[in-house]
Amino acid sequence: MSAAVHQFFLFCFLLLINSTKSYNLTSCIPNTSCQCYLTQYAFILSNCSHTLSDVPIFNSTITKIIARNAFTQWPSQLCKYSKIQILDLSGSYFDSEFVDISCLTQLIHLNLSNTKLTKIPNFHKNFLNYLQILDLSNNNIKILDGLAFQSLNLISLLLQNNPMESIEHLEILFNLTNVELINLHSSNFDVTLKQSLTIDQWIDISHQWETPKKIFTIRMNGIPLQRIIPKPDQFQIISVDAMKNILKMFINSTFISLANTPICNCAHLRSYQRYFSYIDYQKKYSSPLFQSTKCLMPDGSTYAPLFDRLTYINLRCPLLSKISFFPLLTSSSSTIYSVSISFFIIYLFLIC
Ligand SMILES: *[C@@H]1O[C@H](CO)[C@@H](O)[C@H](O)[C@H]1NC(C)=O
Ligand SMILES: *[C@@H]1O[C@H](CO)[C@@H](O)[C@H](O)[C@H]1NC(C)=O
Ligand SMILES: *[C@@H]1O[C@H](CO)[C@@H](O)[C@H](O)[C@H]1NC(C)=O
Ligand SMILES: *[C@@H]1O[C@H](CO)[C@@H](O)[C@H](O)[C@H]1NC(C)=O
Ligand SMILES: *[C@@H]1O[C@H](CO)[C@@H](O)[C@H](O)[C@H]1NC(C)=O
Ligand SMILES: *[C@@H]1O[C@H](CO)[C@@H](O)[C@H](O)[C@H]1NC(C)=O
Ligand SMILES: *[C@@H]1O[C@H](CO)[C@@H](O)[C@H](O)[C@H]1NC(C)=O
Repeated sequence: MSAAVHQFFLFCFLLLINSTKSYNLTSCIPNTSCQCYLTQYAFILSNCSHTLSDVPIFNSTITKIIARNAFTQWPSQLCKYSKIQILDLSGSYFDSEFVDISCLTQLIHLNLSNTKLTKIPNFHKNFLNYLQILDLSNNNIKILDGLAFQSLNLISLLLQNNPMESIEHLEILFNLTNVELINLHSSNFDVTLKQSLTIDQWIDISHQWETPKKIFTIRMNGIPLQRIIPKPDQFQIISVDAMKNILKMFINSTFISLANTPICNCAHLRSYQRYFSYIDYQKKYSSPLFQSTKCLMPDGSTYAPLFDRLTYINLRCPLLSKISFFPLLTSSSSTIYSVSISFFIIYLFLIC
């Protein structure tokens, strides 16, 4: 039976029912196990088990389509529903080449989770102004370029459980005005950050983060925090206030490093902890950032919580970083003075 005949059947059936009420139609699409739940503005297809090659056409002003595990390919008739705001096609198998949402200009919520996508769909043109929630989790996406999301006003970007290999233009994600949640938890533990954010970009972004809007949450495991934020010897350049803004903005985020924990020494720890202690946030010592961020001490086996002063003491780090061989740029002149004294003492010790 051809698709056109199916639709004709459906259409006739729908004419018989009053479209302002909702109905559960068993086998609404002939010759499939699909069940449909229809209202004036929405339809939900369930139990289709990957039997459909396209969306059925209902004559109404549908704004919501939920059809999980339904399709064998990207439904080309989707554009007939140009008013869709909520679209959930998760669990179907799509070829990234054919995914086309450019006609759905009213989309607010798009769920393409678990659809075997290998690429981020094209959001480049400036038409998806309303898109707020984008779920691309559980796919096969390996490359993430922040540029893809530059024109969007996203609140949630879900990209977890993709075998991410590299990330580019991370600053664009940080700079999304309304973003509250970005989940980049990757199934690959070692992700390459194509270009680190420059100090100028950080200065710019920390300005955007100055006016306290909502804290956003990032979940990340492929790239450690220390690779993303400025290095301890740059804290001073970007200013104390800017660093406070940055650490505070990340307070609810988790950065778990598994394969690639950065090496640190007492001087680094001291610097991170000092700036962390400046943050004005009540729950900072129980925050996800505090709990999750670690570095690897030069002994190669001690994982030190980056922001926890207790570890600094437990690791017998010198309290005034006197014998640190990596004096901080941020140190006051008196510390530099005492560092030079200790260098001098070591020098004396060596020549004797
Ligand atoms: C119709 O189906 C929906 C979704 O499967 C379900 O939530 C609802 O309870 C059903 N309603 C009736 C009247 O069967
Ligand atoms: C679909 O219907 C045709 C006849 O219209 C039938 O030959 C075929 O077996 C049906 N397929 C399934 C999966 O039921
Ligand atoms: C779902 O489809 C299967 C066949 O694919 C069928 O056996 C089952 O009864 C259907 N479930 C419902 C709730 O209709
Ligand atoms: C859809 O319904 C409207 C009236 O509600 C009617 O004017 C229009 O012709 C219908 N469209 C189709 C394609 O059947
Ligand atoms: C997308 O769909 C999956 C199930 O297919 C669901 O688990 C997930 O919560 C949905 N995402 C959003 C943002 O609703
Ligand atoms: C952040 O966005 C603003 C506009 O909202 C723009 O002027 C600025 O250049 C962006 N900064 C970065 C680092 O992308
Ligand atoms: C922190 O993140 C959780 C979920 O990950 C969220 O429920 C909570 O609202 C966030 N807190 C803040 C202050 O944003």
